[in-house]
Amino acid sequence: APSYENILVSVVGTKKNVGVIQLNRPKALNALCKPLFVELGKAVKEFDSDSSIAAIIITGNEKAFAAGADIKEMQNNTYSSNQKAGFLQEWEDVSNCGKPIIAAVNGFALGGGCELAMLCDIIYAGEKAKFGQPEINIGTIPGAGGTQRLPRYVGKSKAMEIVLTGNFIDAHEAEKMGLVSRVFPVDKLLEETVKLAERIGTHSPLVVKMAKQSVNQAFETTLKSGLLYEKSIFYGTFATEDRKEGMTAFIEKRPPNFKNE
Ligand code: CAA
Repeated sequence: APSYENILVSVVGTKKNVGVIQLNRPKALNALCKPLFVELGKAVKEFDSDSSIAAIIITGNEKAFAAGADIKEMQNNTYSSNQKAGFLQEWEDVSNCGKPIIAAVNGFALGGGCELAMLCDIIYAGEKAKFGQPEINIGTIPGAGGTQRLPRYVGKSKAMEIVLTGNFIDAHEAEKMGLVSRVFPVDKLLEETVKLAERIGTHSPLVVKMAKQSVNQAFETTLKSGLLYEKSIFYGTFATEDRKEGMTAFIEKRPPNFKNE
């Protein structure tokens, strides 16, 4: 496996089918500098193409998931340097992953840190987690999806409040708003997130991928064409061996043995 400077990568779970990527720049509260994101993109891609991996977890440490894009790195950027370099473009790599990605958030998830969590498919949080889009405090606006993904999670009024004030929200508020799906004690967060990944890992990887594609389509289109998309993916499951196996196993009252075919 490649060695990284800004992340730690491991494979966990009883079946060794859960890929964990831990952001590891603790001195900068995991500020998301470009080298970190390049490594993160590589690690995600590698797990995505590794057939032994069912789901991926992105996490940080107890103090910070990530405190945002690296302010020191971008301090001297200009409009033209951003345009020419495609500043932050590599962030979307994470959202091109076919497998489920779960964010396990303890501590600060601010600015780009909150946006990274929202690039994931599911967000679990430790009870001390703090979310926010504080870019307004430093004279800019969210630039990696905060103004677009946050309103899709929490609606317009709450998203506006978060983006225009820069105020932080705690884990329980985030759960109430629908940004986070569950909150756990700080020291239980990672093991609960692994359990979730393992539960997903009991299903057909092929069909999990189809389900993820279909849910994601809900954020891209009208209801009518989204329903049409869903129907074609649903019909498509009937072209898989795993659909046949799943229904046969149910009728025969035994656990299914999915083959990813
Ligand atoms: N970029 C670079 N360095 C950062 C950082 C960031 N986003 N966040 C924290 N750090 C660094 C600090 O500079 C400090 O480094 P030094 O020890 O070298 O001074 C170290 O991490 C520890 O941070 P603090 O001393 O500030 O820790 P604290 O506990 O007092 O405060 C905090 C924690 C409230 C999270 C505070 O660090 C903070 O406000 N961070 C910035 C949050 C922010 O504005 N994020 C948005 C960034 S912009 C963005 O993300 C754009 C986008 O949409 C993509």
